[in-house]
Amino acid sequence: MKAILLAGGSGSRLFPLTQVASKQLQPVYDKPMIYYPITVLIAAGIREILIISTPHDLPRFRQLLRDGSQWGVSFSFLEQARPNGIAEALLIGREFIGDSNFVLMLGDNIFSGGDDFSRAVGAFEKGASIFAYHVKDPSRYGVVEFDKSGNALSIEEKPARPKSPYAVPGVYIYDNGAVDIAGSIRPSARGELEITEVNLEYMRRGELQVRRLSRGFAWLDAGTSSALHEASVYVENIETRQGIKIGCPEEAAFIRGFLSTERFQALLETMPACEYRDYLAGVARELSGTDQPG
Ligand code: DAU
Repeated sequence: MKAILLAGGSGSRLFPLTQVASKQLQPVYDKPMIYYPITVLIAAGIREILIISTPHDLPRFRQLLRDGSQWGVSFSFLEQARPNGIAEALLIGREFIGDSNFVLMLGDNIFSGGDDFSRAVGAFEKGASIFAYHVKDPSRYGVVEFDKSGNALSIEEKPARPKSPYAVPGVYIYDNGAVDIAGSIRPSARGELEITEVNLEYMRRGELQVRRLSRGFAWLDAGTSSALHEASVYVENIETRQGIKIGCPEEAAFIRGFLSTERFQALLETMPACEYRDYLAGVARELSGTDQPG
């Protein structure tokens, strides 16, 4: 399985912060936002990741993430000239996708807790698999309606009167057919190639699976100043309470076996003395059994 991480957009809702750095490079407590979706992908065992961003911001992503070998993964980078819609990522990524199944993930979505996503990636065979998450304000999102047996009946993009409290988070698992579907849809009233249209086509074909995320799962989007702040507070609370970090790609790569103990130690040597490095050193000790809980 491959993944496309979409990290473009105009970032207008975070102005003037986005004059300093693009939305997905903003800090969410102690890490750049894009670390969080990357960690989720690595934890699911995905090693080939295409990052798509604006011509202006892409160089900064390249500088931060490099070719990915430091984390035992492979990053490639492509530009989206204009924010023409999320589904355009599938067209930009056509060659990268080749004949693989793939995940499309939005760079401003933060997931934490549970292994719902990793299990869905492991179980995926064909069609499309998307998720549903109970929220208080569904009209900000794609909204999925279920029948009594839990089958998805409809999906509407930002409906004024949502038919359910279930929003569709920004992570989608597709088979190869998604690329041609994205090529066949027309821009919406807001001028974008909507990912909801791709999902609706899978639904019409009877090939859409919608999984409700479990209660313990947290999905935060960090698209506005207050959502960004809330996400930081959430991460700080969990990390302080548990002493375990959320959104730490180095740790996920080590746990997944993408990095040997030697390569992990060598990676730590490249970091300045800081709390992040101390944390990772603790992870290495704990996982290598030299620091077992007593
Ligand atoms: O967050 C989940 C929601 O994401 C879904 O529930 C909706 O169905 C889906 O349409 C999308 O809604 P938004 O309107 O919130 O998407 P937004 O335009 O904010 O874009 C989401 C991210 O994708 C954002 O980080 C910017 C990036 N993006 C967006 C567009 C339209 C791009 O990189 N390129 C684009 O062309």
